[in-house]
Amino acid sequence: MSTSTTSQALDEIKIGGLGASRKRVEDSRFIRGKGNYTDDITLPGMLHMEILRSPLAHARIKSIDASRAWEIPGVQLVLTGEMMATRNLAWMPTLSYDTQAVLATDKVRFQGQEVACVIADDPYIAKDACEAIDVDYEPLPPIVSPKQALAADAPVIRDDKENQPDNVIYNWEVGDREGTDRAFEQADLISRLQLHYPRSHPSPIECCGSIADFNRATSKLTVYMTSQAPHIIRAAVALVAELPEHMIRIISPDIGGGFGNKVPVYPGYVCSILASILLERPVKWIEDKSGNLISTGFARDVYLDGEMALRKDGKILAVRVKTDADHGAFFSDAQPSKFKIGLMHSTFAAYDVPVGHIMARGTYTNKAPGGVAYRCSFRVTEAMFFQERMIQAAAQDLGMDQAAFRRMNFVRDDQFPHRTPFGFLLDSGQYAKCLDVGLKAIGYEDFRRQQEEARKNGRLLGLGISTMTEPLGAGNSREYDILGIKMFDSAELKVHMTGKAIVRTGAKTQGQGHETTWAQIVAHELGIPAEDIVVEEGDTDTAPFGMGTYASRSTPVAGAAVAMVSRKIRAKARKLAAHLLEVSEEDVDWELGRFYVRSAPDRGVTIQECAMAAYSNMPDGMEPGLENTAYYDPPNLTWPFAAYFVTVEVDPETGVWDVLNMVAVDDCGVRINPMIVEGQIMGGLTEAYAMANMQFITFDAEGNCVGSNYMDYLLPTAWETPGFELHSEVVTPCPHHPIGAKGIGECAAVGGPAAFVNAVMDAISDTGVRNIDMPLLPDRVWEAIKYRRDVSGAPPVRTD
Ligand code: CDP
Repeated sequence: MSTSTTSQALDEIKIGGLGASRKRVEDSRFIRGKGNYTDDITLPGMLHMEILRSPLAHARIKSIDASRAWEIPGVQLVLTGEMMATRNLAWMPTLSYDTQAVLATDKVRFQGQEVACVIADDPYIAKDACEAIDVDYEPLPPIVSPKQALAADAPVIRDDKENQPDNVIYNWEVGDREGTDRAFEQADLISRLQLHYPRSHPSPIECCGSIADFNRATSKLTVYMTSQAPHIIRAAVALVAELPEHMIRIISPDIGGGFGNKVPVYPGYVCSILASILLERPVKWIEDKSGNLISTGFARDVYLDGEMALRKDGKILAVRVKTDADHGAFFSDAQPSKFKIGLMHSTFAAYDVPVGHIMARGTYTNKAPGGVAYRCSFRVTEAMFFQERMIQAAAQDLGMDQAAFRRMNFVRDDQFPHRTPFGFLLDSGQYAKCLDVGLKAIGYEDFRRQQEEARKNGRLLGLGISTMTEPLGAGNSREYDILGIKMFDSAELKVHMTGKAIVRTGAKTQGQGHETTWAQIVAHELGIPAEDIVVEEGDTDTAPFGMGTYASRSTPVAGAAVAMVSRKIRAKARKLAAHLLEVSEEDVDWELGRFYVRSAPDRGVTIQECAMAAYSNMPDGMEPGLENTAYYDPPNLTWPFAAYFVTVEVDPETGVWDVLNMVAVDDCGVRINPMIVEGQIMGGLTEAYAMANMQFITFDAEGNCVGSNYMDYLLPTAWETPGFELHSEVVTPCPHHPIGAKGIGECAAVGGPAAFVNAVMDAISDTGVRNIDMPLLPDRVWEAIKYRRDVSGAPPVRTD
């Protein structure tokens, strides 16, 4: 074995390590149309499944007659709730310890609920046959809001459950009620705000789907599916379908966007699995766009009512918040078990609030089950939106400058680690610096002058700020679990003898670029060029167990596991290097890509030479090979900070508002791939703009879902989306993450909406209007200006 004489560390950027804006390797197949999505997969003998959905929001099922459907040539199976019940599969557990109907038996509880399935030779036959199923419904009064659900005479939606006398799912509280009351007594001023964060929908380009393939000969069930958390699905299938876990293989191939929509277990998955077991043929189910919009996990739908106790110099003394969450017909939030309203209690984390109290209530309504964390860490979007709307309202009530009020109350740089009144421990940050960078970039003082001038001429200009820190990367496992399964993650690294490597994690990329960035972490730790490392995720037979990708937990948890497993490999490689260099391990030092003898730095071996030795020249007694696995249980969440600034002009005649400028300052610690981080921020800001401006999905008094198609529920294109100016100059490395990275995937979607809304509210501040609920559609803004009144987005309620 020859030794290298190189004494120089590799150039990290050249090998695609940390900080390299490496082009996304996955894009090479995506832009060629060679992605491998669930619907691209065809298996021999495959059948197709379609779902019959309820047209009514609330109705008793008197009878289901599928005889006409069975007679259609090409129909292989019709599944109804009754048939599912004979196999104990009519109901399934949810991720929040509730139950959810797979196929309705007794009642339908939301419009679009799954009532029956047809499995046929092709999807068109299956769809036609669905229409041939006769369901006799007896309509019941629908409930479309928590207020209506809580009324004394409201029908009980979940009459299937014992001990469920009403529509309340939970009452939960956190914080110090008495301390908060005392602080409110000391206040010079109490500021109050009420608003509704409307339902919104993740709308991934690819809808949900699965292909179940049960092989009776091997007893093995393979399911290709659109899951952000394939290992959790494997466990769920094992428990629900009572199949042995080692005989279940879940494969999440390429996923066309998830955003939280692809975390829950949906009835379509369960039905395709049962159908494949019964028919012993592969069964494919691909949801259509309307089906996705109307029946899969919605997000938000929370009514928030808060008060802030203030000293007259602007110091926040306490906050008090009440939340009423509309969960739809089944409580199916995918969130840590301990927290009934997700991480809502991270609200006001960026501010040094001495004491606070939150009361949260959840109710059933006749809507699709909601509460998925749409690009969000378990309700953090609602928390930060309310926080930033409240901060603006409080500053206004105090007659204080928006920026000065924030700066005065921020957690200061020397206060970290900082415990929030609701128990979180913030790790690090430079909040005031981010604010200052943004104020300068948006031209704050100048804009205020322009705004004054414009007002004199009847023009409405506004500036909105949103500053927030967000908890990303659940667990630690002490506090975070889903259905008792602790929230950690994993990585496995195998270095082949030629120095090329494969890394697998328990996360699952859905467009975030893990195939690119995980290789960069290995390159940083081992000096193996990123292009020599392949990343694989999503196959439960090969990937180590992990909790999946949502809540921006990949970098904080799985990414950390990649760094830790690389370090295990480096530790073994050091022993191999010592053996090759014929010195003791203590005499060996490391520089990127190479071990060398401390006293003779030109005597060294590369990581690739160590890899070869692991298979061909290991020391006596050493186990051959160079591979390992790491399970990473994070000591804390990571806390990135974001400051967003928006300027707008509102047309007083029409209520239309245009974005003039948008500045984003994001501090997510060390950036693995700055280009990918920028892409994440731009995508998130686009979604934030869409939520604030145009995404309208609601329900009428009958419980009909309004906005269940893309003519009504708008996705912004490049035409509507404003430009964004991104700033990356503030970097506060995460003190407990092995490479100092914090999550970023969802910051912009979480913090962005308030910046847009605050800008419009600032533009119309002279009207005295406190709130317009999102989306700020022109008619709502016009109504607020014209009638000088708040505009609610709550759905109308039947009065008969
Ligand atoms: O969990 P998810 O992948 O959705 O979110 P994330 O962990 O915030 O990462 C989103 C993408 O940004 C991944 O490709 C990360 O590796 C990348 N990223 C980065 O390059 N630097 C960071 N500090 C954070 C994320």
